[in-house]
Formats: sequence, structure tokens, C-alpha cells
Amino acid sequence: MPEKSVSRVKEDRSFEPSDHFREHARIASAAAYRAMHRESLEQPDEFWRENSQDLVWRTPWTKFSEWKPASDDGKSGAEAKFFLGGTLNVTETCLDRHLTTSARTRAAIVWEGETGETRTLTYFEVHRDVVRLAASLLDMGIKAGDRVGIYMGMVPETAVAMLACARIGATHSVVFGGFSADALRDRMNDCGARVLLTQDGAYRRGSVVPLKNMADAALESTETIEKVVVLRRMGKELAPIAMKDGRDVYWDELSPSAESVARAKAPEAFDAEHPLFILYTSGSTGKPKGVLHTTGGYLATANLSTKLIFDIRESDLYWCTADVGWVTGHSYIVYGPLSVGASVMMYEGAPNQPDPGRFWRIIERHGVSILYTAPTAIRAFIRWGDDHVTKADLSSLRLLGSVGEPINPEAWLWYHKVVGGGRCPIVDTWWQTETGGVMLTTLPGAVTAKPGSTGLPFFGVEIAVLRDDGTPAPANESGKLVINRPWPSMARTLWKDSERYVSAYWSQNPGVYTTGDGARIDEGGYVWVTGRIDDVLNVSGHRIGTAEIESALVSHPAVAEAAAVGKPDDLKGQALVVFVTLKGDKTASKEMKDALTQHIDREIGKFARPDQIRFTDALPKTRSGKIMRRLLREVASGNTDAKGDTSTLEDLSVLAKLRDQKDEG
Ligand code: PRX
Repeated sequence: MPEKSVSRVKEDRSFEPSDHFREHARIASAAAYRAMHRESLEQPDEFWRENSQDLVWRTPWTKFSEWKPASDDGKSGAEAKFFLGGTLNVTETCLDRHLTTSARTRAAIVWEGETGETRTLTYFEVHRDVVRLAASLLDMGIKAGDRVGIYMGMVPETAVAMLACARIGATHSVVFGGFSADALRDRMNDCGARVLLTQDGAYRRGSVVPLKNMADAALESTETIEKVVVLRRMGKELAPIAMKDGRDVYWDELSPSAESVARAKAPEAFDAEHPLFILYTSGSTGKPKGVLHTTGGYLATANLSTKLIFDIRESDLYWCTADVGWVTGHSYIVYGPLSVGASVMMYEGAPNQPDPGRFWRIIERHGVSILYTAPTAIRAFIRWGDDHVTKADLSSLRLLGSVGEPINPEAWLWYHKVVGGGRCPIVDTWWQTETGGVMLTTLPGAVTAKPGSTGLPFFGVEIAVLRDDGTPAPANESGKLVINRPWPSMARTLWKDSERYVSAYWSQNPGVYTTGDGARIDEGGYVWVTGRIDDVLNVSGHRIGTAEIESALVSHPAVAEAAAVGKPDDLKGQALVVFVTLKGDKTASKEMKDALTQHIDREIGKFARPDQIRFTDALPKTRSGKIMRRLLREVASGNTDAKGDTSTLEDLSVLAKLRDQKDEG
């Protein structure tokens, strides 16, 4: 098992749902949760028949699921289908169905820019804008199944862009605006996007992120992108850009044909298994994985989980602080909340811009009632001091959520007391890009929360913790967290790499999905996730593959070899430490560190910058040449007396040298 990601005090207290919350909750007792969970596993057809009614099905589905397990050689199979026979258009559930209710004039998106301006878009307005953009994409020749890239910041148009793609059956691939031009290029080339939607620039921590200029750099080496649509967020003075004739068009100058508008107004329905989006995430190799999600199962889960976990009501203003470029933004800013007709708060910028009181002023200003954020942010707020929080009137809050990494009990308790005033339930939610929606949580109003535990399985989810030999671990013993059966919102494959999909997730233990996380289950069935046990790091809630960092580093002409590992960090959960061996004629220096940092900025993006770069003459390796990461992790953690068996080290002096070396970080 990995080292704990952040310090954890023992916390035995548990928190019952308040009577007030319970009175109104949709699922109001642990017994009700258990009965419903049992039904979801034993009679999935009935369960989902009842719980997928919010979705607008053009053709009702006839069969809940079909599953072909992985083949014995782990190279094929693992093919899942859900809601067979059903057809739908995702945007009819997220938009059209609200146009005939009071939601038509309700705020769908309440937006605040980093510079303080605000905009509100009603469901009517989002629908109008989606139709217009969808029609323009049709005019550009985009057909169902074509890929469209989205490289944008946190503006309402990013949600509009995603929905416009879904409207016409195009598969969107959102690339987080913090990724570099090179990372964007690789993703666009991998998925073969025909159109890229971007914006001139976005505000982040007081400066302008020049998205269009970065997109231009990427587009110098993309083969498939024919058109670029550019949203004017900043204007020419703030973000000077060049528009390429015949390729680039401004968003506000799109003038779709009447014929396409008519088609976009009365959109086609797609098979429940029609691809909805590809989202790239990190795995154990240098190449990011293009996680593919489809339509019916993804939306059914996004819808049900949003409704039940966040307990959203018409009177709520719900705020998920994730970036729309990650899966949390897909499922819990766009598809889930809009499918339930929620009013969604969206904020463009950084939590401490211009000062650490920003989030709390947003809550006060707009009356946010549900806040869903990440432990890293919570720990940063703790560090910045309670005053920033308590200065604001947070009495509108009634529910809090956490996602992205294990929440340490101290952070949980602070969140509960200082932000939630002791009255708001906290829903911790464990899930992954690949799972599409929340898999483990504490349902508010129904079950007791235990600080530090991600709670109990969501409906349709059956999990286990396995020992290395594949047998179930007894209560409280840590092991590998697996999911025992396919579920509707699971990734269907990895784009153009189904073999990797089968081998990464479905072939380590027969019949079960390997999450890559370690966990234990306590005697009450509560799951305690300890963190990743594969070569993936979680730095400030950002998923970073060590192999990606390493391959980026070795692509620098001065680097001979590199190894990236995580070390526990009180703020970030894990910090990224890289060990670098330079080529013979190159010297370790401060300038070299800066050059390597800039190289990572260019290859991946600033968010993947190593916290420490350590130079070494050689890396510790086994006789077969494998880098001994366990030892490097211990060295990185400042554990000078490295534990464990070192007899397989090829050169013990290498390790000794590393251990003795003063960190120049
Ligand atoms: O290690 C787990 C951690 O984040 C990983 C998934 O990262 P990503 O695909 O980027 O999705 C993040 C948002 C869903 C998981 O394998 N993780 C996510 N949520 C939690 C968590 N670890 C502990 N507790 C959580 N609530």
C-alpha cells in the first residue's frame, strides 16, 4: 500500500444526518438506502426502469444490460452495453424538457468572471445558444460520430459547446485549459477532431491564459482540424490574436443556415451506446488514455447521482468548483445538474483572486446553497486562515461535497464546522474519469458520515477490496479496490485502444474492474480510500501519470533518464518529485532545473510542474534494469533509512548517494 497522502489524525466521531435534513431528504434512512441498493443489484431492470424516468427517451429501452467479459488472454472482450434498444438525445433531457416547465426562465448557469462581472443564462437561453452553435457545426459538415475539440476556460459557452456537440451526436473532447499547446495537439491528433472550439483568452489568477494563441501553436501540427470557432472573452487589447482566413471564425459571427437551425431545433435521437465524449486522462504509460463515454448509461447515472447525492431542489444554487475540463466538470457541472434542471454557479478563476476570501464572497453574493469542492482547496483555505471564510455570510449553504482525493479528517472537520457552520451534511464522493459518475458516497439524509471515509456504494455499484492473491480482504485490511460488475456509466473503451482498456481495467482479476486505488472496508461497510497504488499520482486533485512526466523529461536533450514519484504533502495530498540523470556532458544547475520546468510546462502544462527536481548520477535499478520506485519514494519522502529489501539493487551506492544527497529542491 502507498504511504498515506496527508497526515491523518484518528477520528472516531461520526455525523448523523440532521433531523431537518432528514425530514426533506429523498432517501431518509439507512434502511431505505440499503433496500434501494439491494434492489439496484438484484433487480437492476426494475431499479433503472424506475430511476431513468427523468431521461427523455425517444425510444424506450428494452433490455438493461449486456456484458461480454474480458477474454482469458486479456486482449479483447470487456464489452458492455446498457439500456439496449433505447434512443435519446442527451440535450433533450438537459434542456428541452425544461422549456415546458417553470425551469424555462430559471437560471441554468450563474456565471462570475474572475474580474467580477456576472452573467446569468436561463434554460431558455442555453437552449437557444446550443441550437445556434449546433446548427453552425452542422453547416461546417460535422456529422454524428465526428470529433470536436473544446479548449476553453470556465465560461458558460464551454457548457454550450459540449451540449451543442451532443445535440448533433458529435463526440466532444474537452482539453483542460491548463494543458499546453503540445498536449492539446497530441489529444486532437489522437481523436482526429475536425473542429476546435476555443476562446481568445481566459482569466486565471489575475493573468490572461492565451488559449487561442496556444491553440494556434497546436494547430501547426494537427492534420484533422478544419475549422476553429473563437469565443471573444477578453477582446483584442487583452488577448491579441490572429484569425486565419478560411479556418477561424468568431463565435458571435456564426450565422447558421435556416435549414441547419431547423435540424438543430428538432434534433436526431441516438442509440443509448452512441459515443458522447472522449476525455483524456493519465495512466501508467506515457500516452494519455482517451476514455470514451456513451449516452444512455452515462446520463442516467449523472442524473440520478446528482439528484440523490446533492439533493438538488428548485430553490438551490449549486456550485461545483472543478474545472469543466476534468470529468467532475463534465458530470457535475454540465450533464448531471442540467439534466435535473438545477441552477449551476460557475466561476472563472482562482480561489484566491484577488484574495483568499473570493469563494466565500461568491457564496454570499449569489446565495450558493450547495458547494462541491476538493480537499486540496479545503486545505489551502485552512492555511489561509478562518477569517477569510467567517467574514462572509455563508448561511445560504445547506450541503457540502468533496471529491478528487482522500479527505483527511482534519480537513473534513474544518469544512463541516467553519464552512458548514456545523449544520451542513458533507458528501464525500469517490469516483474516476473512467467511472463516469460517483461510485462511493455518503448519501445525505440517509446515512451517517464518518470523516475520512468515502462512505458506501452508490446504486448499482458493487465493490470489494482484494488481497494480492485476488481473495477478498477481511474487514479493515487494506487491499486493491475493485468494482465487481459493470455499471451503466462506465467507460466503454479507450479511444483507438480497446486492448489497453481491457488490460488496464479488466484483466488483473478475472471479472472485476481494477480501480488502481487502495482501500479498506470497515466493519460497517464504509470504504476508506487510501490513494492510488499504480503509477498515477494525485497532485492537488490533478491526476498525473508518472510515466507521462518521465517521457516528457527524457524528451529534453539534456536528460538521459528520469523517474517521477509522489511524496506526501500536507497541502497537495501528493507532491511531484523527479529524479533526473543528465547526459554526460551536461551539468546540474539551477538553470538546468529552470529549463526542465519550462520543458514540462511546454510538454504538458504548468499544473504538472514538479515540486522538486533532484539530479542524480544514476537511478537505483533492479538487476533486470527496472527503476526501483519504492526506494525513490522513500528517498523523496526524506526517509533516509530506506526500508525493505534492497538486495536486488544493482548499485547500492547509487541509493546511498541519493539518500545522503541534500535536497536542493
Ligand atoms: O485516487 C482516486 C482519486 O482520484 C482518482 C480519479 O481521478 P480522476 O479520474 O481525475 O477523477 C477525479 C474526480 C472524480 C481516483 O482513482 N479520488 C477521487 N475522488 C476521491 C478520490 N480519492 C479519495 N476520495 C475521493 N473522494
